[in-house]
Parts: sequence; C-alpha cells; structure tokens
Amino acid sequence: MKKLSSTDLEMSRSIKEHSVRIMAVIKLYVDNIQHLDRIEPNIEALGQSHFERGIKSEYLDVLGPVFAHTIRPLLVKRELWSLNLEEVWLAVFKNISELMKRGYPKDKRKTSKFLK
Ligand code: HEM
Repeated sequence: MKKLSSTDLEMSRSIKEHSVRIMAVIKLYVDNIQHLDRIEPNIEALGQSHFERGIKSEYLDVLGPVFAHTIRPLLVKRELWSLNLEEVWLAVFKNISELMKRGYPKDKRKTSKFLK
C-alpha cells in the first residue's frame, strides 16, 4: 500500500474539517427552513469568502452530488434511501450553492455545465 506523505495527511485533515463546516451550514439551513431570509445574508457572506479565496462558483454546485453519492450506499444498506429523499438533499445543496453565489460578482456566477 502506498505510504501517505505528510502533505496527503494534511490535505485529508483539511477536507475532513471542511466537511464538518459544510454540515454545520446544512444544520443552520435546516434549523431555519421556515424563515430562510434570516440566514441568507450569512450564506451570501460565506460565498463572498469563497470568492475571495479564489474558489470558482461552479465548484459550489458539485458538493450536493458528492454528498448524495457518498451517503447513498449507507442509506441503501439501512433501507432508508429513496429517490425523493435524495432529491430533497440535492435541492437543499443547490439552494445553498445559489445563495453563496450571490456573494460572487455577477460576472463570476457560473453553473457547472453538467448540472444545468
Ligand atoms: C456547499 C458548498 C460549501 C459550503 C457550505 C462551504 C462551507 C465553508 C465554511 C462554513 C467555511 C468556514 C468559514 C469561512 O472560512 O469562510 C469554509 C471554508 C473553506 N472552504 Fe468551503 N464550503 C463550500 C464549498 C467549498 C468548495 C467547493 C471549496 C473548494 C473547492 C471550498 C474551500 C474552502 C476553503 C479552502 C476554506 C478555508 C479553509 C477551511 O476552513 O477549511 N469550499 N467553507
């Protein structure tokens, strides 16, 4: 088995930490599902911080499908998966991604061509 370098380990740690941050945003969204207007400015600001880090807006679209793909086998195993459930999760991620894009300059708001 290939030995992981310290850069690989650092990257893997950052990805794990970022996943926790994403899930905190999902929780914030779900907790405020009845009055999203209260959290929209926070999510827009989060988009702006991503723009300032140089992250292309179309990358934001990829997180939902990656999440759905990752949890699908776990849910199937427990007989909890349904297409309806997956579509709801995809819609939540899509909406977060669209809100984040409001923090990007208009000419930088793109959508991944595979997800249009
Ligand atoms: C659904 C989409 C995403 C959500 C909800 C999200 C959420 C967050 C949050 C809450 C933070 C910490 C707050 C901040 O520093 O501004 C953060 C930081 C960061 N995000 Fe994201 N993010 C998303 C997509 C992405 C993508 C696609 C990338 C890169 C390809 C990315 C890269 C980063 C980086 C580099 C940081 C700073 C380092 C870190 O905190 O891990 N994010 N993100």
